[in-house]
Amino acid sequence: MENSVSYIYRELLEKTKDVAVLGSIQSVIHWDMETMMPPNAVEQRSLQLELLSRIGHQMCTNSTVGKLLQQIQASSEYAKLGEIERRNVYLINKNYLEHTSLPEKLVADMAKQETVTVNAWKRAKAKKDYSLIKSELKKLFELSRQMAEVLMEVKQVKTPYEALIDQFEPKMSTQKITETFDTLQAGLRPLLNKIQETNTDLDTKNLCQPVSVEVQRQISQLLTQTLGYDTVSPAANGRVDETEHPFTSGSYQDVRITTHYYVNDFTNSIFSILHETGHALYELNVNPEWRYQPVGGPCSYGIHESQSRFYENIVGRSKEFWTGFLPKLQKIVPTLAKTGVEEFVYAINRVERSKIRIKSDEVTYNLHIIIRYEIERDLFGDKIGIDELPQVWNEKYEKYLGIKIKDDAEGVMQDTHWYSGLYGYFPSYALGNIYSGQINNALTEALPNWRSQLAHGNLVEVNSWLKNNIHYPSSFYEPEDLIKKATGKNIDSQPFIQYLQNKYKNNEH
Ligand code: CO
Repeated sequence: MENSVSYIYRELLEKTKDVAVLGSIQSVIHWDMETMMPPNAVEQRSLQLELLSRIGHQMCTNSTVGKLLQQIQASSEYAKLGEIERRNVYLINKNYLEHTSLPEKLVADMAKQETVTVNAWKRAKAKKDYSLIKSELKKLFELSRQMAEVLMEVKQVKTPYEALIDQFEPKMSTQKITETFDTLQAGLRPLLNKIQETNTDLDTKNLCQPVSVEVQRQISQLLTQTLGYDTVSPAANGRVDETEHPFTSGSYQDVRITTHYYVNDFTNSIFSILHETGHALYELNVNPEWRYQPVGGPCSYGIHESQSRFYENIVGRSKEFWTGFLPKLQKIVPTLAKTGVEEFVYAINRVERSKIRIKSDEVTYNLHIIIRYEIERDLFGDKIGIDELPQVWNEKYEKYLGIKIKDDAEGVMQDTHWYSGLYGYFPSYALGNIYSGQINNALTEALPNWRSQLAHGNLVEVNSWLKNNIHYPSSFYEPEDLIKKATGKNIDSQPFIQYLQNKYKNNEH
């Protein structure tokens, strides 16, 4: 019966909407914890967060959802549902199976071990001593592997590591990532050598001159306004606040970003604002009809990162953008009055081999990610063990970046991910860059003069292309299919490599 299928479907959507609304409550109180909460309120806040996550888990594993899913999939009328409806059912079913397949004890053990390990990591990092974290890391890694083995069945992937990747980049195989990253690496290493040979001494005093926090707040406002992210008007859906580490939180009608102001390093916040604005625009521009439905959530971490990287680097480090924006900046920061566009753009595009991922430039950043990806893949593939991590790390840094690591704090312990239970996450950073390169090509084909519009501070057409082709379709496609649909090409590192080759041609930009 036609009616019964659409009735069950509506019931299912209603239950899912509650989960999405609850998620938006969680994100507001997370945001509050990072920005506004009094320092001594941590205990109370963790009770609130714990309760919300318990309610969320109950909602996701509610047996009524299971029954509705069974009924709708068994119905002879199922095929009559539209493709959006069927996509929603697929995503609800996937989420339900994943939540119900994981034993509660394993989930609780994992959460506990994450807290223990991340705290032990902070102490071990301060002492620059990996041996202090090794045994806790082994426990966390073993629990992650158990989790991955359960999820492997549900997600129908071939290896535990692919089950972990699927959480961030659905349906992306390790074979595809390895191929794509190998090409990326083969393109980047000669480019890096060439740039290093021609690097000239740089006068950085323009970028280090003091700019007060008050003035930097004005710069943030001007940037978000220029990019079309409203954080000030009475109709605003966004706002900017200040935290130690910048982030974006929220969805649909309430999407907030944060930044960090360093008085002697004002461009730091400029690039954080550009990056987070890219994430924010994505969340704001999802098809409004799909709000609170699974299909109306972001496609993947990699696609999300492609948007932040696009605004931070492809737009934000381009000569065209600064042709338009530098005169505005000079009005607020009069001491920059004598700085030319060429000089400024050269300085913000400086390439330097560094030990630290988050301090690295557009070219070397990806090599940092490739190193982490290869280690994770080989760790879950039983090719290396936890004991060997520092040695493998240091060898790869020497090989790929020509860098000697002195101690494990600047080496294998530099990032929090592995000590917080985040495995399979790193590839999405480089995938984001790769996608952004493909998007750059497709955009240039569709709007050949978008860069000259940029020089006039006009991002209207660029934003609308991204909105229609990337943001609006949200989770209707898997990431690989979305990229194919938006750019006409399969996932490919070449456009990103060419974009960098072009940028650093003669290293004069
Ligand atoms: Co990001």
